[in-house]
Amino acid sequence: MTLLELTDVTASYGPVRVLEGVSLSVPEGGAVGILGANGAGKTTTLRAISGTVRTGGRITFDGRNIRGSRPDKVASLGIAHVPEGRGTLAQLSVRENLRVGAYLRKDRKAIATDLDYCLDLFPQLKDRINSRAAALSGGEQQMLAVGRAFMAKPRLLLLDEASLGLAPSTAKAVYAAIRRLRQESGIAMLVVEQNANLAFTLVDTATVLETGRNVLTGSADELKGMDEIRRAYLGG
Ligand SMILES: Nc1ncnc2c1ncn2[C@@H]1O[C@H](COP(=O)(O)OP(=O)(O)OP(=O)(O)O)[C@@H](O)[C@H]1O
Ligand SMILES: [Mg+2]
Repeated sequence: MTLLELTDVTASYGPVRVLEGVSLSVPEGGAVGILGANGAGKTTTLRAISGTVRTGGRITFDGRNIRGSRPDKVASLGIAHVPEGRGTLAQLSVRENLRVGAYLRKDRKAIATDLDYCLDLFPQLKDRINSRAAALSGGEQQMLAVGRAFMAKPRLLLLDEASLGLAPSTAKAVYAAIRRLRQESGIAMLVVEQNANLAFTLVDTATVLETGRNVLTGSADELKGMDEIRRAYLGG
């Protein structure tokens, strides 16, 4: 079953249109990648979904129209956005950040269970549970951002460049945890990633954006085998 569907989505910042017609769909429990060069419109596509940019076209989630919905409404339907640059609350502790992620929930026992799960998924956070987010390393902040989004108990996670600025080994560790989260939780994921090698360890299918349009969509295996993808995104 399709969970999220974008059909011919456009988006503009003021008078400047930067998405010219993006279409993609994420099945229930599926993981879909968005690849593309700097400025292609990857981040804007995620913003179109979470309601933080002006959009046209059609966006449905679980069969209902969400295009033009406010960000808090979109979040309450079960979409959690891990933005580019992480967006953790610098002055709050790790524990407080994770609690903030669960602010819309009332199921206290399940929140406590999920917090434990989160610390099991990211053991480094356990060691830093009372530290301010600002004092964490880049990798730990990324883990916290993913953990915070998970604490909202979403049905769909929007991940924007989770590997950005991290050492290769740290980026791999972050992706390993996200793969485990996917397997164990069944949360669907829409994953923006410049590092296609990493993206392909997580996603089933991907779409390539160029200047605000899809130019190629296929399974991870198909795309990995294409010369133009190898040249542009896989370093060879
Ligand atoms: N807040 C903004 N105001 C005006 N233009 C913007 C804004 N954010 C992005 N843009 C423009 O929209 C286009 C798409 O940007 P977007 O951030 O979606 O690209 P991206 O694919 O995420 O790139 P990157 O890989 O660098 O993160 C770019 O031309 C960018 O300059
Ligand atoms: Mg971006």
